[in-house]
Amino acid sequence: HNETTISITVVGASGDLARKKIFPALFALFYEDWLPEHFTVFGYARSKLTDEELRNMISGTLTCRIDKSENCGDKMEQFLQRCFYHSGQYNSEDDFAELDKKLKLKEEGRKPNRLFYLSIPPNVFVDVVRCASRHASSPTGWTRVIVEKPFGRDSDSSAELTRCLKQYLSEDQIFRIDHYLGKELVENLSVLRFSNLVFEPLWSRQYIRNVQLIFSEDFGTEGRGGYFDSYGIIRDIMQNHLLQILALFAMETPVSLDAEDIRNEKVKVLRSMRKLQLDDVVIGQYKGHTKGGKSFPGYTDDPTVPKNSLTPTFAAAALFIDNVRWDGVPFLMKAGKALHTRRAEIRVQFRHVPGNLYKRTFGTDLDKTTNELVIRVQPNEAIYLKINNKIPGLSMRLDRSNLNLLYSSRYPIEIPDAYERLLLDAIEGERRLFIRSDELDAAWAIFTPVLKELDTDKVAPELYPYGSRGPVGAHYLAAKYNVRWGDIGDEN
Ligand code: BG6
Repeated sequence: HNETTISITVVGASGDLARKKIFPALFALFYEDWLPEHFTVFGYARSKLTDEELRNMISGTLTCRIDKSENCGDKMEQFLQRCFYHSGQYNSEDDFAELDKKLKLKEEGRKPNRLFYLSIPPNVFVDVVRCASRHASSPTGWTRVIVEKPFGRDSDSSAELTRCLKQYLSEDQIFRIDHYLGKELVENLSVLRFSNLVFEPLWSRQYIRNVQLIFSEDFGTEGRGGYFDSYGIIRDIMQNHLLQILALFAMETPVSLDAEDIRNEKVKVLRSMRKLQLDDVVIGQYKGHTKGGKSFPGYTDDPTVPKNSLTPTFAAAALFIDNVRWDGVPFLMKAGKALHTRRAEIRVQFRHVPGNLYKRTFGTDLDKTTNELVIRVQPNEAIYLKINNKIPGLSMRLDRSNLNLLYSSRYPIEIPDAYERLLLDAIEGERRLFIRSDELDAAWAIFTPVLKELDTDKVAPELYPYGSRGPVGAHYLAAKYNVRWGDIGDEN
């Protein structure tokens, strides 16, 4: 046979991420006919489960797209029949050798490609990679490994992790996921910038006053306190998700859409960034709060979090890119848990119109009249541009209005989950949306010094009530650069 087959092994199959995201994404790809004809999915974890028990565990989390749910049950059954389980330790070469035997049986003499998804805690990344690469690599096809953050907790530990992984894998076998890169509107950033004439000429310090990258969640770290406490929001969200968006937003035009061309531009812009300064960071931590008779726990009420923890669950930061295009433009980031709303967006505030011809009708608060472009990554995906417009009628009155591309009206289809895009790309060997190791180094270099200072100086976070808009310090930080945070919820 020279037909190929693919074996996908989800290591850490009983974990949260695997159940909530990875198996459902694999099923969605199968359901939409994106997977190769011959494929097998293996769950690998320490618990002793049968194939049937694995199937029961994942069947509850699979869903079909609302718009095409016919055959859903049949398709699920077909998919589950291709899912198997292997129980093993994460550091046992023998257990991976056993897995290899099972994979071979399913591969039935076809040329096998093998994909491993490491959905496990970072302290076992290297063990698994060692065992899998030695005993369960594909003999004739490719072997790829998907890893997900945390990639260390600073420059040194990240470099050490890379060094260890590269003892067993080459860079082109390592697929580092940042799932924000799989989100529809993040992928669309390049299309917006480079396929429309009207944006790119304005995309510089000449016309853009500031850029805001905002991540907000309306729930706390419930259940994840153990992981979260040794990382904090800067490592959990800013150094990766928000910085990746920033890089795509600010990079120069790549030579082509090839993965290496895009990643080269991202590295360049990241390397042009100034290291974040302690003065340009505000940190916060949520405290318990009672609202409408309901009480919400504080971060340190979580039994897995030390009572005296100083770990930030909120941070705001001002970052700068010292290059020709962006010199002096503040890129403000804000990320927080247990805030009033769940939202991720990019806000681009343009400069004032010089001369202010309409000051008699609009007043002199120019901030209220500047154009703002908002890219709402989630929820309710949208791109809108705030413009000034005349209110129809005989008098000259102006109004703020939105040119509004609301995805749910323009594209009444379900948007695939980020993990679907990323798994498909890993299967197809498309590396555009994965993080190259030099990119990772550049990202850590921006945040490592300030993370160290926060730790050694034991900087106390400003407390904010669960469900609030976060610490006021974020406003002072913005004001220092003459910026007002955009009004979340201003869409029409
Ligand atoms: C993860 C973080 O990377 O992203 C979590 O570790 C966070 O803390 C999550 O909740 C948010 O992802 P999404 O796709 O729900 O916005």
